[in-house]
Amino acid sequence: MVFAMSSSTLWPCVAIREASLAERTTMRVGGRVEWLLEPTTPDELAAANAAARDRGLRPRVLGGGANVVIDDGLLPGVVISTERLRRVFRPLAGEAGAESETLDAEVTPAAIAPPDPAQDPRLVVWCGATLPALLRAARDLGYSGLEGIVGVPGYVGGGVAMNAGGRWGEMWDVIESVRVIDEDGELRDLARDECTPSYRNANLGERIVVGAVLRFHPEPVLVIRERMRDYLVQKNAVQPVTEWSAGCVFKNPDPERSEGRSAGKLVDDCGGKGLERGEAIVSPLHGNFIVNRGKATAVDVFTLMEDVQDLVAQKTGIRLEFEVKRWRPSDPRE
Ligand code: EPU
Repeated sequence: MVFAMSSSTLWPCVAIREASLAERTTMRVGGRVEWLLEPTTPDELAAANAAARDRGLRPRVLGGGANVVIDDGLLPGVVISTERLRRVFRPLAGEAGAESETLDAEVTPAAIAPPDPAQDPRLVVWCGATLPALLRAARDLGYSGLEGIVGVPGYVGGGVAMNAGGRWGEMWDVIESVRVIDEDGELRDLARDECTPSYRNANLGERIVVGAVLRFHPEPVLVIRERMRDYLVQKNAVQPVTEWSAGCVFKNPDPERSEGRSAGKLVDDCGGKGLERGEAIVSPLHGNFIVNRGKATAVDVFTLMEDVQDLVAQKTGIRLEFEVKRWRPSDPRE
């Protein structure tokens, strides 16, 4: 299907011209993008990517906007939103090649559910499923393995691409395979052992994550629920979860260099908490969070990120690496 959005531009999916981006991110900062594309199936996602590339553009992919700060003004080119690719379902029971079929749009949850979930504790997820929705689905089926990322607000695509996680576990703990759009624009399945995920990076390069097959282990729902509650209580006590932020700004440094101190502890020790630039402030609760107090601009946030990085470098000799992505016209795509 081809959608005509203006007399001169055709896109293979819903497309919005000069779409506003700030409200699509958890930081609530950013301007507009020339074109926002909203595919509804993996095939449409591949077609949207191909259409952008045909125009000489390398699209950026936006999921839940949980780990990104977008520049003010107009971002040239194309952003593909995975907002409409929300599906989570159980794989086809006992058929050879089920993994390769299960990410396809025609498969409906009712048609594929095996009689006993514990026999096949796997879920198939599309990139636009929210991590909270995925965790709820897994919990309610008695599937354990992802409780450690409770409280992470992003979508599956970003979570897989950056190996979202924390001290209790990470996304790739449960990944059996991922479906990606390769550099050549083709949909391709990669088995877990073909990939080399590391701390906060799946190392998938330019590939776009379309979905994944996740393997859990069965546990009583009550046990999973309690574990998630426990983690969430601990997290909520030390992180500014109800405020507008992009999550942890910096990756934790090599513990040997930092004497085991996390990025947040280093910022705290260097007196960075409470530093402000315009309406952006380093959270007084946790040194690794920058919070938008309401009207922060991207410039406020970028300046504060760099100033905190400089502060820690001057005081400790450690140059912290950004975990948060910055989307500016001049930045290389990540
Ligand atoms: N600490 C301070 N002051 C601070 C911040 C932390 O003293 O301002 C202390 C804490 O009290 C604690 C220690 O530092 O004793 C480590 O805590 P911290 O939260 O800094 O680090 P972490 O547990 O390694 C990781 C992830 C978080 C994730 C949590 C829980 C990174 C950079 N951080 O933190 O991830 O929520 O585990 O699972 O990997 C994110 O990726 O956006 C994120 C927030």
